[in-house]
Amino acid sequence: MGGKTRTPVIIDTDPGVDDTLAILLAIASPELEILAYIISFGNTDVHAAYANIYKLYQAIGRHITQYPEDEAMFPNFSPTVPPLLAVGPEGPLGGGRHYAQYFHGRDGLSNITERHPDLNVDFGSSSFSHNFEPVKESGVEVALCLLESYPDRSITYVTLGPMTNLAQLMREHRQTVVDKIGRVIAMAGAVDVPGNTTSVAEFNVYADPYAAKELLVPTDPTSGFPLERLVLVPLDITTIHELPFPYYCRKVDPAFESTAKPSNPNGKSPIVHFTSSVFERTREIMVDFGKDALELHDIVAIWCAIENPPEINPVCDFPGMSPGWAVAERTFDIERTGEITRGMFVTDRRDENTAYAPGLNRAEVQVQLDLLQLGNGVLESTALPARVELEDPALSAGGPDEVGLERKRNGVGCLVETPGPSALLHLLTRRVWGFSYSLVD
Ligand SMILES: *[C@@H]1O[C@H](CO)[C@@H](O)[C@H](O)[C@H]1NC(C)=O
Ligand SMILES: *[C@@H]1O[C@H](CO)[C@@H](O)[C@H](O)[C@H]1NC(C)=O
Repeated sequence: MGGKTRTPVIIDTDPGVDDTLAILLAIASPELEILAYIISFGNTDVHAAYANIYKLYQAIGRHITQYPEDEAMFPNFSPTVPPLLAVGPEGPLGGGRHYAQYFHGRDGLSNITERHPDLNVDFGSSSFSHNFEPVKESGVEVALCLLESYPDRSITYVTLGPMTNLAQLMREHRQTVVDKIGRVIAMAGAVDVPGNTTSVAEFNVYADPYAAKELLVPTDPTSGFPLERLVLVPLDITTIHELPFPYYCRKVDPAFESTAKPSNPNGKSPIVHFTSSVFERTREIMVDFGKDALELHDIVAIWCAIENPPEINPVCDFPGMSPGWAVAERTFDIERTGEITRGMFVTDRRDENTAYAPGLNRAEVQVQLDLLQLGNGVLESTALPARVELEDPALSAGGPDEVGLERKRNGVGCLVETPGPSALLHLLTRRVWGFSYSLVD
């Protein structure tokens, strides 16, 4: 840690197999100071997701009891500054509620509740040390209180699940969010690649397309979310990062296989037993999907938070990213109610992007042209420079705004480059399983 400042983070999550691994990485990362977990519906229901934080902390606690020398590996597992644990939204801002239990199991952790009862939490037991603090305030209240009590622009808010809580926070306390939030890193969406819940939608956006649209597609950029401080981490970049299960066997747990040979706690670290118990079913599902690896979606978002602290004094219109990281601005709309396209990012792929603002409906432009009596027999694309005439000039000005140096952006900064899959694999393995006695190099 060496006296370096740690980035305070709020983790908004629906744990979830990959969320849980992402949280393990966060707990093992000295660059971060976890202020709170806000638990959302998503991969499973909010109550099962909530219990998974207990299961994870129990596994780390058991590990440290058995191997006290490893305590320093988990700088966010400390009884002195316990993160808050709050219950967030139980369902989306709009539309029906959906879970991803087909993938994550009813308990969110591949059904370890039934397969590995030794990992269930006995809430009555006095030997269970929390190292986090369950609170009765809502996710919105907890986030608001933290934003208000930390220095301006210092907090990173990471969403690993549906973006419902953040959208609700914006609805209720927009000015505080705008004034105080440092950076949002959101694992969500599929821009140029297929979805992973439907052919076109990534799960977190599918689960609450209303929240995603409110945050990412401003109708009026002067009143929406400060997009210049948001980094979207879509499937386009996350999917290439994976943990191959044969690698996990080699480096972490040689006994790891599948549910046919369930993890046996004897002779292995409690953390390894925990992750192997979760992964054994995930492996079977992934092999059915055609690859023997876990995709590290949420883990990439936490890695991004580790390596890219917020800029407290931004000097440019774009989130400054550390070397090896890059963001590209993209513009899209989000389908909320589609018969088959709910949660889809709709990108305007037409090439004449000089004539029309992206996403513009040409049929409606024609109606407007006709009203202006300019449409008579003239091709619409040459009749009028539609983009210039029809766009609000305030939006395209690009000049300094009230915050001084930041430019309001219409597009969303999408993560397009990381230091690479093998860099993440090494970081993850070393931090999460790199115990003094284990197999990791
Ligand atoms: C979880 O258990 C239920 C009931 O036994 C089963 O239907 C479901 O397929 C299991 N899910 C996973 C991901 O293993
Ligand atoms: C889809 O992506 C989300 C990313 O948040 C991930 O949590 C989920 O496990 C993925 N589902 C599948 C089936 O890959």
